[in-house]
Amino acid sequence: MSYENVLLEVTDGVATVTVNRPDKLNALNTRTIEELLAVFEKVSGDDEVRSVILTGAGEKAFVAGADIGELANLTAGEAEYVATRGQELMNRIENLGKPVLAAIGGFALGGGCELAMACTFRYAADTAKLGLPETGLGLIPGFGGTQRMPRLIGRGRALELILTGDMIDAAEAKAYGLVNRVYPHEELLPAAQKTAAKLALKSRVTLRAALKAVGEGLQMNQDSGCRLEAALFGVCASSNDAHEGCAAFLAKRKPSFRDS
Ligand code: COA
Repeated sequence: MSYENVLLEVTDGVATVTVNRPDKLNALNTRTIEELLAVFEKVSGDDEVRSVILTGAGEKAFVAGADIGELANLTAGEAEYVATRGQELMNRIENLGKPVLAAIGGFALGGGCELAMACTFRYAADTAKLGLPETGLGLIPGFGGTQRMPRLIGRGRALELILTGDMIDAAEAKAYGLVNRVYPHEELLPAAQKTAAKLALKSRVTLRAALKAVGEGLQMNQDSGCRLEAALFGVCASSNDAHEGCAAFLAKRKPSFRDS
């Protein structure tokens, strides 16, 4: 598949995926959603890729939402299909088995905020604005926002943002826990690249296990989650990379992981 609206670049184990419709503030039309689904499938199966940065082209936006032009006159069945496809994209990112870092350089609204929330964690520029403005359009979030936002920032804050549709700035988003870190705009991508490069040096086995323990654990009660954690701890502790990591610590040298 050739991509019109998405850029993919892989350097030193880090894939950078850029939503590239800056004249439409990177809004997610059907084509862009399908391209992102394909790109993340490719990235998932590419052993060269160890961590991912997801960002938006241009100065103004990460992603300003689903493409409102395409939402204007849908039947219930068509709209449900749009939501299902968008949710498949969010689930694919969330369950990629590799860390995906959202670098939010501007507006992350509606589907853009949902896209960011599906990522493993989020860095934002100090100019970023986040929110779920769908109620202003007579809609509700449809790409998992009503589910991920309360899990991320709590029910009361999420309901306030979802019902009012208000945007918050990067500082408030950080205080809410909606983004992890905030940087001056020009420092955002370098900071994301530094973290993604650090993650690319880790063992793939341990990153996948940690992602699974947290991701699947959050869907369970705490006792079941702890049992899952113990089983995954067993997988990691008996791996070559755990032997290497512990031996390297004891020998006061840097570990060299082989993903096994
Ligand atoms: N869907 C489709 N097009 C969008 C879009 C979206 N979600 N968000 C922005 N655009 C388009 C605008 O229509 C405009 O296109 P045009 O130049 O062909 O008219 C272009 O992107 C630039 O946007 P504009 O509104 O002129 O920029 P702004 O700086 O004045 O405002 C926003 C920025 C983000 C506040 C405003 O674009 C906005 O409210 N967008 C919609 C956000 C939203 O409701 N998202 C949830 C969708 S479910």
